[in-house]
Amino acid sequence: MKKSLFIIILLSVVGYMSAQDIQLVPPNRTGGKPLMDALNARQTHRNFEKKNLPPQILSDMLWAAYGFNREDKRTVPSSQNKQEVDVYVMFSTGIYFYDAKDNKLVLKEKGDFRAALGQPNISNNASLSLIYVINLDKNKRDAGLIDTGFSVQNVYLYCASAGLGAVARGSFTRPDLHNAMKLTDQQEIALVQAIGYVK
Ligand SMILES: Cc1cc2nc3c(=O)[nH]c(=O)nc-3n(C[C@H](O)[C@H](O)[C@H](O)COP(=O)(O)O)c2cc1C
Repeated sequence: MKKSLFIIILLSVVGYMSAQDIQLVPPNRTGGKPLMDALNARQTHRNFEKKNLPPQILSDMLWAAYGFNREDKRTVPSSQNKQEVDVYVMFSTGIYFYDAKDNKLVLKEKGDFRAALGQPNISNNASLSLIYVINLDKNKRDAGLIDTGFSVQNVYLYCASAGLGAVARGSFTRPDLHNAMKLTDQQEIALVQAIGYVK
C-alpha cells in the first residue's frame, strides 16, 4: 500500500518527464502577480539551477506562451489569425510539440539534443527550452518572426510573475537544431527561449 502510494506520488511529480506523450494538467488561468508588477519584474536571466518545473507551472507557462483562451484563438495575436507558429519544448530527455488544443506534449524526438541549442551554460541548466517554429506554408516569414515575439514576451511576463527566469536566445546553431528536430524546409526556427529557476 505504502509502496504503491509512493509510486503514484513519484509519477505525479516526474510523470511529465517520461519518454511518451505527456498529458498536461489543466492550466490555471487566474492568479499570478498584477500585470504592472510582472512588467516591473521582467528581465532576462541566464543562470539557472538544474531543477524541473512542477507540472502545474509547466502547463501554465505553455498556456501563457501559446494556449487557447477562446474556442479557436490564443493568448497571443497572430497576423491574419494564421497561427503559423508552433511551440516545441526541449527537455534533457527529448523534444516535444505543444498541442495546445489537447493540452499535451507530443513526443517528437527522444534523446538529449541540448547541444544543438548552443550556449551550454544556459541550455544545460535551464529546466527546459522553448523553440518557436514558423510554418512557412501558413504565413510569411516576417509575420512568423513578429508573432513569435508575442509568445516570447508572454513567457517573460509569466516567468516574472511565477518567480522563474527566462532568456530569449537567437544564438543557436540553426542547421544543427533544424536537423535535430527533423524539421522540413517549410519550417523555420524563429527563436529559442530557455526557462528555469534563477540561481
Ligand atoms: C531576439 C532576441 C535574441 C536574443 N538572443 C540572446 C542570446 O542568444 N543569448 C542571450 O544570452 N541573450 C539573448 N537575448 C536577450 C537579450 O540580450 C536581453 O533581452 C537584453 O540584453 C536586454 O535585457 P533584459 O531582457 O533583461 O531587459 C535575446 C533577446 C532577443 C529579444
